[in-house]
Amino acid sequence: SKPRHLLTIADLSASEFTTLVRNASSHKAALKAGTTPPALKNALLDKTVAMMFSKRSTRTRVSTEAAVVSMGGHPMFLGSSDIQLGVNESLYDTSVVISSMVSAMVARVGHHSEVADLAKHSSVPVINALSNDFHPLQTIADFLTIHEAFGNKEGKKLGVEGLKVAWVGDANNVLFDLAIACQKLGVEIAVASPKGYEIPSHMKDLINSSAPLSRSLLTETTVPEEAIKDADILVTDTWISMGQEEESAKRLKAFAGYQITEELAKKGGAKKGWKFMHCLPRHQEEVDDAVFYGNRSLVFPEAENRLWAAIAALEGFVVKAGKIEG
Ligand code: CP
Ligand code: NVA
Repeated sequence: SKPRHLLTIADLSASEFTTLVRNASSHKAALKAGTTPPALKNALLDKTVAMMFSKRSTRTRVSTEAAVVSMGGHPMFLGSSDIQLGVNESLYDTSVVISSMVSAMVARVGHHSEVADLAKHSSVPVINALSNDFHPLQTIADFLTIHEAFGNKEGKKLGVEGLKVAWVGDANNVLFDLAIACQKLGVEIAVASPKGYEIPSHMKDLINSSAPLSRSLLTETTVPEEAIKDADILVTDTWISMGQEEESAKRLKAFAGYQITEELAKKGGAKKGWKFMHCLPRHQEEVDDAVFYGNRSLVFPEAENRLWAAIAALEGFVVKAGKIEG
């Protein structure tokens, strides 16, 4: 039978996504207290996880390697100058060959179709480590972070329903999976991006179709203050994603006025206790130092949570072969 892959949060039910975040949270608590949960102990013993990265990475690489090791497995990092990932060899050939030798592939690519192609031809689970369209591991970590800051610690749910997230900046890969998760969990998601940098319509359809009972919680505007109104969490990302470097000058101009500052949040009327999140790497233009390093900022716990998210994803997709709730 075909393996189950994690290419986007859209691949998960609300309940499966919640379970992954819950597992990340409980494994975090246990491992930080110095105990290895039985479910993780040697769960990847004698198994190799190939990490095929065609773009640079700090968090995703380090968290995935550390996660694999914590479960007794061997992470094999394959950078773009190491293997023939779509260069000089087809993705089909690469996928068939590598998946015949390892237990899972974690891939960071450009076009989303590259990781989708790897998955299509792979005999083992493939986890998307960032494509131009999605970043599911980031979203699991982000909801762990939101859960820790705002949620209830008891019960099966995350206790995040009814919160409002405001995304101010570029409508990109990190936003798309975040917005899909927001829809699934009943979190309002308001997006402010400049004209010409909005959510593409096919992506909007996917995000809207992720809303249960077809009541979309997504709103869009070009005015940052409008999105920020009554928001619990302000989120942004770089204005210039990997692969867009040539557009830098144009983008810096287009996004002028979108920098997240205490003043903008105040003008927009964010909730009193609002918090700030960013997947990192961060640049000065999208958020000033006062917010980024201030006491509203969750960015470093959010980055650490990438480790716990990676463990939960490997458990769900590799150890449990996609039977996340089993
Ligand atoms: N947030 C994130 O994915 O960071 P890296 O690009 O450093 O992996
Ligand atoms: N939007 C960014 C995220 C990096 C983690 C990029 O694609 O480069």
